[in-house]
Amino acid sequence: MPGFKHLAAELIAPLAGLETGEVETLLVKPPQPEMGDLGFPCFGLAKKLRQAPVKIASELAAKIILGPGSVFTSAQAVGPYVNLSLSPSALAAATLVPALSHPDAWGSADTGSGKTVVIEYSSPNIAKPLGVHHIRSTMLGAALSRLYRLRGWRVVEMNYLGDWGTTFGQLMVAYKMREAENPEQAVDVHALLQLYLKFHAEVDSDASLAASARQWFKRLEDGDPEAVRLWGIFRAESLKDLKKLYQRLGVDFPDSAFTGEAFFNNRMPATIKRLREKGLLVESQGAQVVDLAAFGLPPCLIIKTDGATIYATRDLASAEYRQEAFNFDLSLYVVANQQELHFRQIFKTLDLMGYPWAANCQHVKFGMLSFGPGVFGEGAATGSTRKGRVIFLEDVLDRAVEKARALILEGSADKNGVTDSDRLAEQVGVGAVVFSEFLQRRIKDVSFTWERALNLHGDSGPYLQYTHARLSSLLRRYAAKPSAQANWQRLASPLEKEVLIQLTAFDSALGQAVTENEPSLVATYLLELTAVFNRLFTDKERHRLISDDRELTDARMALVEGVRLTLARGLAILGLAAPDAM
Ligand code: ARG
Repeated sequence: MPGFKHLAAELIAPLAGLETGEVETLLVKPPQPEMGDLGFPCFGLAKKLRQAPVKIASELAAKIILGPGSVFTSAQAVGPYVNLSLSPSALAAATLVPALSHPDAWGSADTGSGKTVVIEYSSPNIAKPLGVHHIRSTMLGAALSRLYRLRGWRVVEMNYLGDWGTTFGQLMVAYKMREAENPEQAVDVHALLQLYLKFHAEVDSDASLAASARQWFKRLEDGDPEAVRLWGIFRAESLKDLKKLYQRLGVDFPDSAFTGEAFFNNRMPATIKRLREKGLLVESQGAQVVDLAAFGLPPCLIIKTDGATIYATRDLASAEYRQEAFNFDLSLYVVANQQELHFRQIFKTLDLMGYPWAANCQHVKFGMLSFGPGVFGEGAATGSTRKGRVIFLEDVLDRAVEKARALILEGSADKNGVTDSDRLAEQVGVGAVVFSEFLQRRIKDVSFTWERALNLHGDSGPYLQYTHARLSSLLRRYAAKPSAQANWQRLASPLEKEVLIQLTAFDSALGQAVTENEPSLVATYLLELTAVFNRLFTDKERHRLISDDRELTDARMALVEGVRLTLARGLAILGLAAPDAM
């Protein structure tokens, strides 16, 4: 509640002989809500005034005069603190009134207006099914895109597919071997995976295959029609599968976002020319590198001994393109922290090329996703595709949905008004997996367990979804549209005020999430909001939400709608559905 803190500080500062800013940083939350909402500690003044803090507090409190229009309803000394209580009307004016009158704008801000951010995320290596670990970059990046957009930025999403490299040569070799036996062979991602495995099985006994794979890739680089045709088929089939999964995850890349490594193939010569002109390319054992020793980094390899460019070269060309095409203020790379060194080399090289915008490129890194033994078959989340040890995302989602269905059937879904249990199982199952991405700060490793992901009473996606469904059902019982005009003074209980205060924090949680590129802060916020609200919800004695007291009911249902809306908007940012019944 930054706004209210400021108002409190303005009130206290002149009376205490301090600066407003100083008072603002000193304000704390009293331990009991009954004591007030904002507390000013008087210890610091004791030395200066040569008086006991308790005495200072009571004298200070006596001097505070609150007019009828004040956002504060009382100022009282509690021990060495001066505590102010916020008026429910002021709290509602900052939360329920805007939320209920403009629900689509709730949480939005214009802090990013006029600024452009490029957000690269997901970026899988294609021509094989998506591994489960790809969910990390995909969901973190999608959440960041939604967050930045909500805060007024122009957001350019980018999916830098790994759609180039010798793997494609290998697939072509295996494809041609199969073609002889079966000219009509399938080429969906699962068939491509089989081709990949076939290549690696046979290359062990026939080393010449490796050379022909390199040849095929060379043909591709040189624009040979057959190689380009096959590459086009492999890529299109992969994209078909990818988009199917993105849709399940609620991730919606525009078609223009798919600019993979291949796209930059013909831009490399220009990039290399610029590196050379700047005198940055030096020879090292037959290869061309940028020497970064002065910065404590290993050399950045640009051209291999055989004349081929590599991953780093393409990243330089693609960074130049991002700036040229979008003139960004900020360029984010949502990529696993294993690639930290790579990005330090890239950003340093861009800096040496004389690009001031190199300083606006950021690696948004994250930890690993792991499945303990037995959580999902025998595989590891990031095992090797070649050994068949990778866990596919689709399989995990399917399993999650199966488990969610069992969970739903166990509960009283029918009684609660669930009409489409297939759809609900999909929302809850996928939501459970997705939310695990946000339970901790992104840099931490995620160790996935079904118990945690699907716990309806713990810190999980389904728990938030379930809370949303309960609030929706309550609103259905109320059978009126919650109004942005109610007698807010009726929301005066400590718990009601705590919920209101928690709602004022939505805005700063979103702002912080953007500043730190940390969508998990949204998840943490939603869990706190839910916890505070559930205390009120379960306190049926004192908080009957729907009663004969119409005025009280109206005010309380507006509060319920405020919480429901905030949950729905927060879940949407994270990519989870907010079911109306569960
Ligand atoms: N395709 C790469 C991989 O799967 C990730 C690409 C990361 N982005 C980048 N600009 N290098 O490992």
